Amino acid sequence: MYNKSNKAKIAVLASGRGSNFVAIQKAIDRGEIAARIAVLICDKPKAKVIEAAREFGIDVSIVDSAGLSNDEFDKKLVAELKGYAIDLILLAGFMKIVGRPLLENFPGKIINIHPSLLPSFKGLNAQRQAIEYGAKISGCTVHFIDEGVDTGPIILQSSVPVLDNDTEETLSARILEEEHRIYPEGVRLFVEKRLRIDGRRVIIEESSC
Ligand code: GAR
Repeated sequence: MYNKSNKAKIAVLASGRGSNFVAIQKAIDRGEIAARIAVLICDKPKAKVIEAAREFGIDVSIVDSAGLSNDEFDKKLVAELKGYAIDLILLAGFMKIVGRPLLENFPGKIINIHPSLLPSFKGLNAQRQAIEYGAKISGCTVHFIDEGVDTGPIILQSSVPVLDNDTEETLSARILEEEHRIYPEGVRLFVEKRLRIDGRRVIIEESSC
């Protein structure tokens, strides 16, 4: 395990654009999180997030899921993550469901961001789901991963209004601003060992310094 002189090693798993990945790396660069992103693992060889990682000089590992069963893919991820002795895994727009091999090897160490106020609007296209449902408020959730889809214990949430003239794009943009604020904050709390899981609840402990 890491200590204060030995920064937490993070792996980010992402499939697409990578704006949350960049927000977290920028928070690290500003000295807000005592950690380093050791590797970006991406399942899409052409994803934009890969360029971003290379610009920051972060290792990139492409683990292509093509032709693999979910279990085979997960086992490849575990092998890659063990190679880096990872302390924390962040899913940032990672469009695969995390299965047993990952959960068993990294219990309580996998965090996700989801663009809705869970438990509302789980799964894909959460922002569109909120508009179509007629919700007046939506937002985003930073949560631990468990065996369900978007069901793990909630660390932080932030709300935004859903406006009458919102499109999926405008609502997504408003939520994304909040994602970029609360995801680095959640990572900081984990790295400072201030998150205690108590059943479904995540208790945020006071800072000791
Ligand atoms: C973000 O909005 C994130 O909340 C969402 O994908 C987007 C990734 O953007 N994740 C999910 O929907 C997971 N169910 P990014 O690649 O720019 O960080």
